[in-house]
Amino acid sequence: MYRIAPSLLSADFARLGEEVRNVVASGADWIHFDVMDNHYVPNLTVGPLVCEAIRPHTSAPIDVHLMVKPVDRIIPDFARAGANIITFHPEASEHIDRSLGLIRDSGCQAGLVFNPATPLHHMDHVMDKLDVVLLMSVNPGFGGQKFIPETLNKLRAARDRIDAYEARSGRRILLEIDGGVKTDNIAEIARAGADTFVAGSAVFGAGRDEDPNRYDSIIGAL
Ligand code: DX5
Ligand code: ZN
Repeated sequence: MYRIAPSLLSADFARLGEEVRNVVASGADWIHFDVMDNHYVPNLTVGPLVCEAIRPHTSAPIDVHLMVKPVDRIIPDFARAGANIITFHPEASEHIDRSLGLIRDSGCQAGLVFNPATPLHHMDHVMDKLDVVLLMSVNPGFGGQKFIPETLNKLRAARDRIDAYEARSGRRILLEIDGGVKTDNIAEIARAGADTFVAGSAVFGAGRDEDPNRYDSIIGAL
């Protein structure tokens, strides 16, 4: 079972509510919400107020990807704003276990995000607190970048760790991929073990208004 999570980073920010409704009507499973702070990453996007503003436009889960440092103090704000899933980068938290606990205590699902060069061992001692593992297939900060091919090897390694954990615990952890996912590589990425796919420019990019089937094309490529 696959999930597609269109990233609002490439949506029309002047019409976000409409973009959310359209993409969910086209079959999107989650809404991916990229939070950048011009500190942890060299770009600045949106915060809890905008999350709260789009919340009434859909019942689909809102998948908040925090690219901020520090992490902890913004977690309750996103939980109150209607986030369902909150993920953060281990490098951005002084206490990874504590940050995961804060997310779960706020009623959200929790996940860790791994940059292309971040080793997977950060997940080792916190598997019981993970609902999602998100692998970045580009360096975080911008939409529209090219998929880094080495990510396929990392995906297979993450899949093995998660499969082994699921077999011994009976708990499910989703494996999400973010960056450069397009119609021409999504099938290969799925074969490497991803089950949840963020897609920004492929969904909301060029031809957005002209192509009512833009979403169908990327799910159809799986
Ligand atoms: C990058 C963001 C991604 C981005 C993906 O830092 O985390 O979610 O929007 O955009 P595409 O799909 O265009 O690579
Ligand atoms: Zn993202």
